[in-house]
Amino acid sequence: PREDYQPLYKILESATAFYEQQLRNPKTKDRPISYFKGRGLSGQTAKQFRLGYAPQGWDNLISALGNSDAEVKNLIKAGLLIENEQGRRYDRFRDRVIFPIRDSRGRVIAFGGRVMGDDKPKYLNSPETPVFHKGKELYGLYEAKLASNKIRRFVIVEGYMDVIALAQFGIPYAVATLGTATSRDHIEKLFRSSDELIFCFDGDEAGRRAAWRALENALPTAKDGRQIKFLLLPEGEDPDTLVRKNGTDYFEGLLNECDTLSEYFYKHLGAEVDTRTMDGRARLASLAKPYLEQLPSGVLQQLMLKRLGEITELADIQLDPAPPREHPEAR
Ligand code: UTP
Ligand code: MN
Ligand code: MN
Ligand code: MN
Ligand code: MN
Repeated sequence: PREDYQPLYKILESATAFYEQQLRNPKTKDRPISYFKGRGLSGQTAKQFRLGYAPQGWDNLISALGNSDAEVKNLIKAGLLIENEQGRRYDRFRDRVIFPIRDSRGRVIAFGGRVMGDDKPKYLNSPETPVFHKGKELYGLYEAKLASNKIRRFVIVEGYMDVIALAQFGIPYAVATLGTATSRDHIEKLFRSSDELIFCFDGDEAGRRAAWRALENALPTAKDGRQIKFLLLPEGEDPDTLVRKNGTDYFEGLLNECDTLSEYFYKHLGAEVDTRTMDGRARLASLAKPYLEQLPSGVLQQLMLKRLGEITELADIQLDPAPPREHPEAR
């Protein structure tokens, strides 16, 4: 029989309401409110994303939500209460601003908590729990679906604040993978609601690596008729800083002009070889072929193969059939 997770959802909802309440509590609200204001968020945006504040102290949730055996058990199971080896229990989130993560039905399933200063870690996230699987959930997906009944495209970003800033600037179709790599499950989930995905990670080395990893996971999903694009941001920028600096029209302009999968693919690989030499072109072919084999067979695969032929000046390049990929995330 399937376990009943209703008590977990219920306690996660109560915790969300408690954290939201602290933004109205005169004793606690000043620092988190000025933090959010300092980052340019409006009160309406804070409400929309159900932002909150976890106050200082070790036992706020038990005090507010109850300390019966059942409640404590569920708080631990929900990842809100940590139990150490001595059996002592304490709040996971302390003195952090809180970002509730909702599933696509709107139920809160986890939280991210950010320090307001320079402490480490910058963000603390809920652990994996029976209702929260990091590799499957996307922050902002529920909010994006609420904002429009037909989503033309998704922008996949790195962080909470990227999703929220874009939404406040009238770009309500951003979702975040929350520090984990974009998985095949993430991509398939998004393609159920839209046929265009734009990956838009931070303009730094980590962001560029994440973009290439996303391409690798996206290749098997790139059926003809679906669009996969890549927007590489200027060094040092992320979607939050960039939309704030330059505004909505500028940012949407970037989204409209960014690289398609094939453009990004050949730009990236082309930068790793010297295509003026035969040897470099041969190397390009050997780098590209295993990727092209991952594409579903179709027109895009043929066109990208044709392009490889043009670049290498070799008319007839053959692909080997793709090996079976039963568990693409297993690597
Ligand atoms: P970033 O380092 O790009 O942070 O990490 P950010 O989103 O721009 O954060 P701000 O603007 O300083 O508030 C991207 C995402 O990776 C996860 C978070 O989800 C974050 O939004 N992350 C980052 C963590 O989980 N823990 C960390 O310590 C750092
Ligand atoms: Mn980053
Ligand atoms: Mn960032
Ligand atoms: Mn940021
Ligand atoms: Mn590389």
